[in-house]
Amino acid sequence: MMNARTGARSAIMAALIATFAVAAAQSPTTLKSAFSGDFVIGAAINKAQITGQDERGDAIIESQFNSISPENALKWQSIHPLPGKFDFSLADQYVAFGEKHHMFIVGHNLIWHNQVPAWVFRDRKGNLLTRDALLARMRAHISKVVGRYKGKIQSWDVVNEALNDDGTLRQSLWLKIIGPDYIAKAFEYAHEADPKAQLTYNDYNLEHRAKRNGAIKLIKELQAEGIPITSVGMQGHMSLNQPSLKEEDETITAFGKLGVKVAISELDIDVLPKATQQQTAEISLKVAQNATLNPYTEGLPAAVQQQLAVRYRNLFDIFLKHSGIVTRVTFWGVTDADSWLNNWPVKARTSYPLLFDRNGQPNLAFYAVLSTAKPAK
Ligand code: XIL
Repeated sequence: MMNARTGARSAIMAALIATFAVAAAQSPTTLKSAFSGDFVIGAAINKAQITGQDERGDAIIESQFNSISPENALKWQSIHPLPGKFDFSLADQYVAFGEKHHMFIVGHNLIWHNQVPAWVFRDRKGNLLTRDALLARMRAHISKVVGRYKGKIQSWDVVNEALNDDGTLRQSLWLKIIGPDYIAKAFEYAHEADPKAQLTYNDYNLEHRAKRNGAIKLIKELQAEGIPITSVGMQGHMSLNQPSLKEEDETITAFGKLGVKVAISELDIDVLPKATQQQTAEISLKVAQNATLNPYTEGLPAAVQQQLAVRYRNLFDIFLKHSGIVTRVTFWGVTDADSWLNNWPVKARTSYPLLFDRNGQPNLAFYAVLSTAKPAK
């Protein structure tokens, strides 16, 4: 039996669906056409999608998106697992996929504290490398990888997550061994390997004031030294209420003022109960399984789907308002089944952060996003 409350809810839901559907009916029917004059629209793709094992996923990628990012295929541990041993098999297929479909191809990433093998920082005896030796190793890696895809990968995430949440530099082994100029050096080496590639600094929580200010300081320092930084990647691992729309808006404006472009580089919206107090995307975080943290195993309640749709619509309104600054919006995954949020920070949850459901069907949030687009001419 439907009580008054659920009745009211489903009436609101029906009205929302109608609103989004009417607006979407006047808009283009694919994400890439909806925003074609504004920014490219991307998805991070996984091994099954790169290799053609996921036909349903590939059909969505090919029809909806005009940019791709490699979810894991180009990270140091995937591409350069042992000293002197590169494995480009999957990365080559990733780039070929993007070229075949005339997509804007992103390289993710060159320098990070995660998904990098331990040997990178050590000599044969197991001692930490000297600054010069690590710089030489960094340069060799960047030249080889960026050089291989010169003119094909249009944009590189050169350095990923170098900042702490308080805006200071993260004490990674890159920083400890080389010093703070490791960031500038990474950009120099990438530029030297492909002078035409766009070069990005990528991080999460940049909407938060302290971290945003840290990023602004970093970008100004790089610019003062003449380092060719083109854009900032705001990862955009969000929840239903964080960051606020105001923070999102102000952060994009602040980066725009520096003369850099913004890529929303890893967008997803977590609707599950928060597993920790902090808002973070640090991949090493692990939280124990617990049924209360996994409430929607049988499907997403309509009310939450509705909140997700409104949240996505509000965010796209902001991205569009800044379409002179925002050059790309990339979702971190294609369907909900692919999302890393099914296994992070808690293993084996059922998450609903994206625009396509587990059956590959567009959800209400998809129509809400389309409804923000300017009507087709
Ligand atoms: C994640 C991938 O989605 C997972 O498959 C992998 O196990 C861990 O990394 N920030 C980033 C991305 O920059 O590279 C991370 O991707 C998610 C957080």
